[in-house]
Amino acid sequence: MKTYDLFIQSEKYSTKWEKYFDVYDSIFEKYRDKKITFVEVGIFNGGSLEIWKKFFHPESRIIGIDLNPECKKFEKKGIEIFIGDQSNENFWDDFYKKVGKIDILLDDGGHTNMQQIITSIKSVPNINDDGVLLIEDTHASYKNEFGNPSKYSFINFTKKLIDDVNFKYPNLGRFRKSLNNYIYSIQYYESFVAFHINSKKTFTNKSINNRSANKEMIDDFRHENLIKKKMLKNKLVKNFKFLYKYRFFKWCYNFILNKIIYFKYISDTIKCLKFFK
Ligand SMILES: C[S@@+](CC[C@H](N)C(=O)[O-])C[C@H]1O[C@@H](n2cnc3c(N)ncnc32)[C@H](O)[C@@H]1O
Repeated sequence: MKTYDLFIQSEKYSTKWEKYFDVYDSIFEKYRDKKITFVEVGIFNGGSLEIWKKFFHPESRIIGIDLNPECKKFEKKGIEIFIGDQSNENFWDDFYKKVGKIDILLDDGGHTNMQQIITSIKSVPNINDDGVLLIEDTHASYKNEFGNPSKYSFINFTKKLIDDVNFKYPNLGRFRKSLNNYIYSIQYYESFVAFHINSKKTFTNKSINNRSANKEMIDDFRHENLIKKKMLKNKLVKNFKFLYKYRFFKWCYNFILNKIIYFKYISDTIKCLKFFK
């Protein structure tokens, strides 16, 4: 059964946006037959926990977290409830000490920037390889009632994490609070961000050649500028041989060529500006 059907049948109250079910189905499908640990932040009336209990493997651990102590009443066989504040780092330390590593965390809690950021920072290292962190209702990053739009919105935090994932490429940079030893990929939907966790796949990349690497090669036109530079250099050296042997002229020549290449990139950027509007 799909999550939408389980939602409609659930006896406990829940409210969801129509497009969410497709996102749940596509991300959670591959975990259905496995015994996993699934955590949802935000219990409210217990409606969604009912869905997850029926959706995942019957021996899966389903855990709900909420700030409201009344939610403890939804605890029953196969559903564990933890009461705590998702914006409190100590709560998460304590939670993962008790529960151990998990496979999926779905955040449908309070949706503030701080709640979503702290939940992500504290949970990513505690998710098993091939697991996922799914943050819901990320439209909060654009709404006044959540103090947004802001430079420090959750969505802007995820843009930093895009840089973080790319910084795995050698010598590009590093954030102090980096998660790039855990996050393998980031997926965006309207109102959702999914972080796919796999520490084994986040190793530092290296370039490898196939067996024909030493055979004769034609010019790679990605390096068109460098080829032009080489050709110009040959011409210059030929015509002004007497000057080129002087270090100063050599320096001037390289300086001018590098500036030409630099300005070429600036003119490319200007041509692309319209795509940033
Ligand atoms: C949108 S409702 C959850 C709905 C539920 N997932 C469903 O689909 O039926 C949000 C819940 O988050 C809880 N919540 C709000 N702030 C929280 C916080 N700081 N920590 C944990 N839970 C919080 C609220 O008490 C509320 O029950």
